[in-house]
Amino acid sequence: MPLPPQPRHILSVLDYADDLPQILRRGVELKAERRRGRSPPVLKGKTLALIFEKSSTRTRTSFEVGAHDLGGQSLYLSSKDLQLGRGETIADTARVLSRFVDVIGYRAYRHSDVTELARWASIPVINALDDLEHPCQIAADLLTLHERWGGKFKGRRLAFIGDGNNVLHSLLLGAASVGLDIAAATPRDYGPRPDIVAAARERAKESGSAIDLTDDPKTAAKGADAIYTDVWVSMGEEAEAAQREGAFKGYQVNDALLDLGKPGVFAMHDLPAHRGQEITDAVMDGTRQAIWDQAENRLHAQKALIEWIFRPARATSRR
Ligand code: CP
Ligand code: NVA
Repeated sequence: MPLPPQPRHILSVLDYADDLPQILRRGVELKAERRRGRSPPVLKGKTLALIFEKSSTRTRTSFEVGAHDLGGQSLYLSSKDLQLGRGETIADTARVLSRFVDVIGYRAYRHSDVTELARWASIPVINALDDLEHPCQIAADLLTLHERWGGKFKGRRLAFIGDGNNVLHSLLLGAASVGLDIAAATPRDYGPRPDIVAAARERAKESGSAIDLTDDPKTAAKGADAIYTDVWVSMGEEAEAAQREGAFKGYQVNDALLDLGKPGVFAMHDLPAHRGQEITDAVMDGTRQAIWDQAENRLHAQKALIEWIFRPARATSRR
C-alpha cells in the first residue's frame, strides 16, 4: 500500500525557501485582496490549532485573523491549559489533535519539541517561534523588503545588529535563499549557531548572497540598505538579563548607526521592542523605519504560508 503523503510542515525557513518568490508574490496579492475585502477560502471548513508555550501579540493575532480571513477557524490552546502541561506527551498530543484539527501552529521553548510534534502529527505543523528559528517572522520581513525594493533583492544589503538567536538564524537562511546580502554584528559569545551559518552559506552558493559576520555594529551597518535588530533578552532568557544587557551595550540601532547606511536606509524590528536597549525611541517613532509595515505583513505572509501548505499549486503556479 502506498504511504500516505507527508504533511507539508514549516519548521524552518528552509522548508519553504525554494518557493519564496511565489510566496512573496502571493503575500503582495493577498494584502491587496484583503484591502478590497476579499481572501481565498483556503481554510474553509478547517481548523487551525495554536499551541503556545510563550506570550505572543503578532504571531497569535496574525494566525487567528489569517485563519478567519481564509474561511477557517482557529483554536488557541495555551500549553498551561492542555494536558501537555501536566505531562501528556507531545507525541500523544500530536496524534489526538491530528484527529480533530487540520493544521497546528506551535510556539515552543525547544526546537526539538516542535520537530517531535511534527514527527507524530499527520497534519501540517507550523513553527510559531522556538529557540532555533522564527520562520513565519522572516516571511513577513522578506515581504516587507520585497515591497520596499520592488521585488529585487540582488545587490541589496541587510545588516543585523544584536543577538545571534532564532530571528537572526531564520534571517540568514531567508536572505541566503533570495540572494540578499546580509551582514550580522553580534557580540562574540552571542553569535549565530555554526550549523545555521553553514546551511545559509550553502544556500548562498546558489543565490550569490554575501554573508558577513562581525562583532562590530558599525562594520555591519556601513552601506546597508536596511538595519534589523531583535531584543537582547529573548523569552525564556530572563535570568540572563543583567549579563546580556552588559554584553549587548553598543549593539543599538540608533540614528548614528542608521547614518552609516545608504541613503534611504531604514530600521527593522520583529517586535516586541525594548525601547532604549536594542533600538531608540527616535528610530521607532521616526520615518527611517519599516517596523509597522513589518508587523502588518505578519498577517499577509501568514496567509501566504497557509495557502502554500493547503494549495501548493496556487502558490507555485507562476514559476
Ligand atoms: N514578532 C513576534 O513574533 O511577535 P509576538 O511575540 O508578539 O508574536
Ligand atoms: N528573539 C525573540 C523574538 C521575539 C519575537 C524571542 O525569542 O523572544
